[in-house]
Amino acid sequence: KLCRAHARADGARTVKAAAVLGAGIMGGGIAFASALKGVPARMKDIAQGQLDLGCGEADKLLARQVRLGRLAQDKADAVRRGIVAQLDYAGFGQVDLVVEAVVENIKVKHAVLAELESRIADDAIIATNTSSLRIDDLAVPLARPHNFVGMHFFNPVPVMPLVEIVKGEKTSMAAVSTAVGYAVAMGKTPIVVKDCPGFLVNRILIANNRAFSQLVADGADFEQVDRAMEDFGWPMGPAYLMDVVGMDTGSHVSNVIAAGYPERMTRSWDDVLELMVEQKRFGQKTGIGFYRYEADPAGKPV
Ligand code: 3HC
Repeated sequence: KLCRAHARADGARTVKAAAVLGAGIMGGGIAFASALKGVPARMKDIAQGQLDLGCGEADKLLARQVRLGRLAQDKADAVRRGIVAQLDYAGFGQVDLVVEAVVENIKVKHAVLAELESRIADDAIIATNTSSLRIDDLAVPLARPHNFVGMHFFNPVPVMPLVEIVKGEKTSMAAVSTAVGYAVAMGKTPIVVKDCPGFLVNRILIANNRAFSQLVADGADFEQVDRAMEDFGWPMGPAYLMDVVGMDTGSHVSNVIAAGYPERMTRSWDDVLELMVEQKRFGQKTGIGFYRYEADPAGKPV
C-alpha cells in the first residue's frame, strides 16, 4: 500500500544533525542536499579518496550556485562547513539520523549496520539507501530494528525530487515519520512504499532496462535508441542512464529483483548488462560504459 501524506507519528523527531556512511555518488549527494537545506551532515567513508571526491562534488555544486547568483558566498561557505568529512565515527553519538549508503552487498551492509548501531544514540534512526534489498533482510543484525527504515534517493540526488521511504515489518511509525520529515526538510517528495525487492521505482526501471538490453541484443544501435527516447521525451536515454547509475549497481539491483520475482523475470535478458560488468565498463564512475567520458566523470558522454 502506498501513502503520500503522512501525519507526524508520536515519537517522531526533527532531524537537526545527520550523518551519511559512504561518500560515493549517492552519499556525497545526500550530504550535500542535507547541508544545503540547513541540516549539517557528517560524511564518513573508509577511503580518503572517496571523501575527497564527495567534497569536491559539493564544492563544484556550491560554486555553480554562487556563480549563478543563487547563493551568496557566505551562505555557500556555511553550507560547506555543514559537510564534515571524516574517516571515524566522531560526533555520531549526537546525530538524529544516519543514512547508510555503502556498497549494495548484503554482507557488507550487515557488518556496517551492526557497527554503526553501536556508535549512535539508542533513539537515533538508521536509514538505509539500499536500492532494492528488503529492509527486513537488512535489519537482521540490528538490536533496534524499530529505529531502522529505508530512505532510497535517486541519482543525481541534488536534483531528483523523489525519495522512497521503506517501512520494514519492525520499523516503528516514529522512524517512518522521522524519515518523511527529513526528506521534506531536504526539499524532496517522500513516498512511503512497501518493503519488497526493488520497492516501486526500480521495479519499473529494471523492466525498462530489460527491454533496452533485449533491443541491443537484437542488434539495435544504443546511441540511436538513446536519441529516439530523448526525442520521445525521456530526460536521458536508457544507455546514458545506465552509465549514470553504474552497471555494477544496476546489475546488483537487477539480480535482487530477478531473485525476488523468479516467476516473472528470468536472468537471460540481462546479457548486455552482464557483459559490461565483466569488462568493468561500469559507466561514468570508470570513465567508460556505453559511452566514454573525459577526465571529469560527471561529464557528458564523448
Ligand atoms: N548533480 C547535480 N546537479 C545536476 C547534475 C548532477 N550530476 N546533473 C544535472 N544537474 C542539475 C543542473 O545543474 C541543472 O540545475 P539548475 O536547474 O539548478 O541549473 C539541472 O540539474 C538540469 O540540468 P541540465 O539542464 O544540464 O540537464 P537535464 O535537463 O537533462 O537534467 C537530469 C538533468 C535532472 C539529471 C535529467 O537528465 C534526469 O532527470 N535524468 C534522469 C535521471 C534518473 O532517472 N535518475 C534515476 C536513476 S535510478 C537511481 O538512482 C536508483 C538506483 O537505485 C538505481
